[in-house]
Amino acid sequence: MSDSRPVLVSGVKPTGDLHIGNYFGAMRQFVELTKTGKYRPFIFIADYHALNSIQDAEEMRRRTREIVMAYLAIGLDPREVVFFKQSDVPAHTELCWIFDTITTMPCLMRAHAYKDAEAKNKELNVGTFNYPMLMAADILMYDAAIVPVGADQKQHIEYARDTAEKFNRVFKTDVFKLPEAYIMSDVAVVPGTDGQKMSKSYGNVIPLFASRDELAKAVMSIVTDSSGERPENVYEIHKLVRSEQELETIYNEHRGNYKVLKELLIEDLDRYLAPMRATYEELQQDAGLVNDVLARGKQEARAISEQKMEQVRKAIGVA
Ligand code: ADP
Ligand code: TRP
Repeated sequence: MSDSRPVLVSGVKPTGDLHIGNYFGAMRQFVELTKTGKYRPFIFIADYHALNSIQDAEEMRRRTREIVMAYLAIGLDPREVVFFKQSDVPAHTELCWIFDTITTMPCLMRAHAYKDAEAKNKELNVGTFNYPMLMAADILMYDAAIVPVGADQKQHIEYARDTAEKFNRVFKTDVFKLPEAYIMSDVAVVPGTDGQKMSKSYGNVIPLFASRDELAKAVMSIVTDSSGERPENVYEIHKLVRSEQELETIYNEHRGNYKVLKELLIEDLDRYLAPMRATYEELQQDAGLVNDVLARGKQEARAISEQKMEQVRKAIGVA
């Protein structure tokens, strides 16, 4: 059956240690978008992109598994989404090479990552330099109409558009469709336990799949400032899992009693996160399930990408 919905493509790097900031700030919106039914979604784990920084086989395997389990646990439905690993579909790297041959060095030297490294006098591996071309291949392979990403990825989508346009012009074809970025709205920054932005690099996180005890420990460590009306750092997290209307009453009733408010937050967070945690734990017990999901995604993505590559090979004259 043909599917005429516009295609949605996005990649997630298997960077681990997910926290509730990642979930409320990005992952949740992303999965909701795939559930609207408006798009034909392709979501993949960008392991070859991650290879620029994860250069340890065990770590790569573990983090890949973790991110797949995380997305399944938060509700990504692999029957609705073609969910696969980038490295399982060799056409991505093949197409990347083809794009390399029509892309100039100065063009890639305009990339933010390259410029940052230059400015800091840091050495950059060729894979990082070439990152935008592999990403263009990921996107153009499936005729993406929209690419949901965070604002920091906007330039990469422009590279993909430019590359599609250039390929079509050079080889006098219309093989590639020009994608649009879909910039996910910045949900208010989720504060960490110290009040700064929650981030794995600040050690101030509430882990997404924390056990109740870990949750309790993290919540109890939230820094409270007694000068204001209410403990803002507690409240800002609380409002993610309970309506502000209800919180108004609760925070008034327990004004000044931070211990009770934190205990309520533990309760509410635990209730909210428990179903996802349970699914995550089930998946952890069932290695076969994750493998099955990826095997199905691989098969589908390979079949579709092979059709595209046939057109590409014809267009460039190697077939
Ligand atoms: P970290 O800061 O822990 O390294 P990443 O940079 O890997 O997190 O973030 C991945 C995604 O999660 C990004 O799209 C980012 O916008 C979102 N995100 C991360 N931390 C937060 C936060 N504290 N509040 C809202 N969104 C966040
Ligand atoms: N570069 C993206 C990131 O760091 C991940 C990514 C790789 C991606 N390939 C993609 C995102 C294709 C969208 C489409 O978040």
